[in-house]
Amino acid sequence: MCGIVGYVGKEQAAPILLDGLSRLEYRGYDSAGVCVGGDGALKVAKTKGRLSNLSEMTHGGGDLPGTFGIGHTRWATHGEPNDVNSHPHLSQDGRIALVHNGIIENYMEIKEMLLEKGVQFASETDSEVVAQLLQYYYRKTSDIFQAVYKVLHRIEGAYALGILCADKPDQIIAARKDAPLLLGHGDGCAFIASDATAIIKHTREVSYMEDGEVALLTADRIQVYNALGDPIEKERHVIDWEISAAEKGGYEHFMFKEIMEEPEALRRTIGPRIRDGRIELEGFSVTADTLRSMSRLYIVACGSSYHVGMVGKYNIEKLLRIPVEVQLASEFRYCDPILDEKTLVIIISQSGETLDTMAALREAKARGARILSIVNVVGSSIARESDDVLYTWAGPEIAVATTKAYSTQLMLLDMITLYFADLLGTVDEKTYRKLVTELQTIPDKLEKVLAQKEKIQYFASQYFNHDSVFFIGRNLDFALGLEGSLKLKEISYIHSEAYASGELKHGTISLIEDGTLVVALSTYGPLLDKAMSNVVEVRARGADVLALTTESGEEALAKNATGVLTVPDTAEMFLPSLGVVPLQLFAYYVALQKGCDIDKPRNLAKSVTVE
Ligand code: G6P
Repeated sequence: MCGIVGYVGKEQAAPILLDGLSRLEYRGYDSAGVCVGGDGALKVAKTKGRLSNLSEMTHGGGDLPGTFGIGHTRWATHGEPNDVNSHPHLSQDGRIALVHNGIIENYMEIKEMLLEKGVQFASETDSEVVAQLLQYYYRKTSDIFQAVYKVLHRIEGAYALGILCADKPDQIIAARKDAPLLLGHGDGCAFIASDATAIIKHTREVSYMEDGEVALLTADRIQVYNALGDPIEKERHVIDWEISAAEKGGYEHFMFKEIMEEPEALRRTIGPRIRDGRIELEGFSVTADTLRSMSRLYIVACGSSYHVGMVGKYNIEKLLRIPVEVQLASEFRYCDPILDEKTLVIIISQSGETLDTMAALREAKARGARILSIVNVVGSSIARESDDVLYTWAGPEIAVATTKAYSTQLMLLDMITLYFADLLGTVDEKTYRKLVTELQTIPDKLEKVLAQKEKIQYFASQYFNHDSVFFIGRNLDFALGLEGSLKLKEISYIHSEAYASGELKHGTISLIEDGTLVVALSTYGPLLDKAMSNVVEVRARGADVLALTTESGEEALAKNATGVLTVPDTAEMFLPSLGVVPLQLFAYYVALQKGCDIDKPRNLAKSVTVE
């Protein structure tokens, strides 16, 4: 979703802003713009489409001289993606410029008030209302800082704001509520950004803004104020990954690079958390007593993170015998969930900034539940507001379609499951040791799966022109199918659905005809025979069946499927960790064959910071 970057310093701002925006492209956007201040005026350049258009239009920023500015990549919500609706927005008098990420919910009411007072609007956006309201209060107070506070009291909704005022050169004002924004402390310069990738080239020292805070940035100083306007001290954090982690490094696509990084990412997730054959979770405060008093466990997330929860449900219920409810964050927050201090809510989020997930966390917390989160981005909002947080250490993930973050989330959830089972004594010592030993083999087994990429590419070349694909499976394979199907549809735009195999006969089988592709997931040993029956049924109706099974299941599946992919045998609970990789690669190669924009699929955003 929208990306924000801002710079104030001694250098020319525009090229720095354009470079920062290029690093935020992965968040998903449909237009881009920058505003730079110089010679007592604010100059804006903005355009629909890719950032390269903006760069060409401004000759790499050369047309916009000035040492302070703000930039924005827009993911349209209010008003179609066009030049006018792009950010930055100027106040009518051109003296105030603003970039915004989020949604201003009461913008219509404010717009009507301003229209009555004769203010003219250029765009259809909710964001422009904030720029015009700023002008309104600035005229009343003659103090831009006071005007910002007045605006913040008046607007409702979510926002990360970057603001320039022509009368206050070499200064940026930033404000945040329910949308990500961080401050970068440079050497003789200062930054604002939606995330660290935009500025890591210039500084590793950042402070995370909290809701209600306002920051005043000049080249030499960043001063932050709380919601009451009192100055406060902010903690500084050092980003501990290299810029190369957020670059393609010779690969054609980030998605492929990130799939190839999965074994290493898993090693980073697993390695430091195993000591003397036992799982140890750093700074983890959930005790056996807390667990024993728990009546149920919720897992709440969106998108692929939700699918991790779907896998987790099977494993947790099997090993802990505690009921698990997996809920979509967007539903959970509005369903009056039954929670109390005896409920543990596991929140899963790669970005740690997904708005619905964040809102679900707050809802659960307000009702007394204990929050454990699984997060990839260090210092993100979800991480900061949880009682316990465990990081996946997957490193920055740039492709919109998640791969290595999904795999590390899954592994971490499995580790939490085993840790809880050990605490509660629901798994015997021998089984526990065996599973902990086995989980450490998963990264190596994943290397074996990756080595089959040519075979997967071959199958993709056979099926890339299908209009509709069905993923079927039972138990863990059903949960795995949800992710396989999502991967395929999000990057290749092929309609795909995941079904529990047992449901086929209740409707879906009517869609199977000659040549329909069915991806039959059959890794889960105990239900292999059942999976075989479903393969036979869809084959009998003309479907092509691409089966995914374990090495030991290959012979059986090969008898009936059109093609078979395998993963090494492992303990049942870890099968989805291996099984997901061929599905990610399949989606990747299909999208590649179709010539799709793999890293930035249409209409999608990496970090969904609006409802
Ligand atoms: C977006 C991304 C998905 C991700 C989902 C949840 O839709 O494209 O890959 O699974 O958001 O994001 P989160 O950061 O909370 O895991």
